[in-house]
Amino acid sequence: MDRIRIRGGNKLNGIIPISGAKNAALPLMIASLLTSDTLTLENVPHLADVEQLLRILGNHGVDVAVNGRRESQGESYSRTIHFTCRTIVDTVAPYELVSKMRASFWVIGPLLAREGQARVSLPGGCAIGTRPVDLFLDGLQALGAKLEIDGGYVNATAPSGGLVGGHYTFPKVSVGATHVMMMAASLANGTTLIENAAREPEVVDLARCLNAMGAKIAGAGTSTITIEGVTSLSGARHRVLPDRIETGTYAMAVAMTGGDVTLEGTEAALLDNALEAIRMAGATVTDTESGLRIVRNGNGIQPVDVVTEPFPGFPTDLQAQFMALMTRSSGVSHITETIFENRFMHVQELARLGARISLSGQMARIEGVSGLKGAPVMATDLRASVSLVIAGLAAEGETLVNRVYHLDRGFERLEEKLTRCGADVERISD
Ligand code: EPZ
Repeated sequence: MDRIRIRGGNKLNGIIPISGAKNAALPLMIASLLTSDTLTLENVPHLADVEQLLRILGNHGVDVAVNGRRESQGESYSRTIHFTCRTIVDTVAPYELVSKMRASFWVIGPLLAREGQARVSLPGGCAIGTRPVDLFLDGLQALGAKLEIDGGYVNATAPSGGLVGGHYTFPKVSVGATHVMMMAASLANGTTLIENAAREPEVVDLARCLNAMGAKIAGAGTSTITIEGVTSLSGARHRVLPDRIETGTYAMAVAMTGGDVTLEGTEAALLDNALEAIRMAGATVTDTESGLRIVRNGNGIQPVDVVTEPFPGFPTDLQAQFMALMTRSSGVSHITETIFENRFMHVQELARLGARISLSGQMARIEGVSGLKGAPVMATDLRASVSLVIAGLAAEGETLVNRVYHLDRGFERLEEKLTRCGADVERISD
């Protein structure tokens, strides 16, 4: 199994091209199930989760053609992928596939909307929390779907004339359930009103793509979304938006090591709140024509308290990385996780590098230390893994990050991007 070896202590200087967003690409790919025409997506990142979803979509009848391996001066490996689902050949999403990636549960929306039925395995638990699907089920019921749980599967059936427009107020913000409701309601009869919808940029990106396919969605990016159902959707060409979590991760890495890096092809507006936290920690962040420039030279790292919240708040997907940064701050900081109940698995591993962190419920107290020391570490999810990479970049000596497959799920060519900026990072294949 691959590992990443980091010899810490180097500053980062140079350019890092930011890839297309994993969490936008996944729902966009699933939207290809809604039409018999071709949906072309540009800037699709080359990631294990994307490959897994390609397999899942293939199972439902989506033909995939990949081209454009390199773009952006040969530095990004994001691709253009054409998805064509002439007919849905199978409305069952089996346990073996859904259990590997929670987002594959989202096929329930398009399958139900286009075919009037779906049998989709429950995704089950996950390392970062229980992650139930009640909001998906309640939301689809508001569109007239009949649902029953049978043998670990959700059996969903639309009324004989198809799904009908409805009104649903989310009791809690859910990104995935908002994606599913937008996809399902696009092909429903009548108008749907969603309140307390997720406002994440990935929701806006999906709505833009669906509208390019002929959907009538208004209000994405606010907490009230209106969807006027249409009878069919067509193909479209859409470019996946830049990955805000990858952006924030590298910004925090530069704030950690010091140096001067331009994150190419990304936008400050995608992660407003997190950039403010990085600024308060002592880095300079400038929005330039080619992307975001992050600089920290000379000044130390300041302690900053953050609380994770749905967008536009501080993202839970950057919580672990920010904690790594705070381990080197000149004081005490607090990080509160409000989205997932078990997203602190990196704490013990950061402690192996010499961090001083104590947990009390959903709050971590981080006492900055003057230096970290390299050690073998491993993590059980993607963002926790990359937080260990950030810590390793600033630690004295060698850090070995095990279970690299987590990183490959969400970070395209991580070691190459960091090495080009002067880091000593190497993938070791046993
Ligand atoms: C998306 O997951 C992202 N995944 C996650 O990124 C991200 O952490 C999360 O949104 C929050 O921003 C993708 O986009 C593929 P939610 P999602 O539904 O949609 C609870 C990463 O590292 N909930 O917004 O699954 C849930 O348990 C991943 O890239 C219910 O209670 O998250 C959580 O506490 C990890 N019932 C909260 O809502 C439901 O039916 C928010 O989850 C659904 C969700």
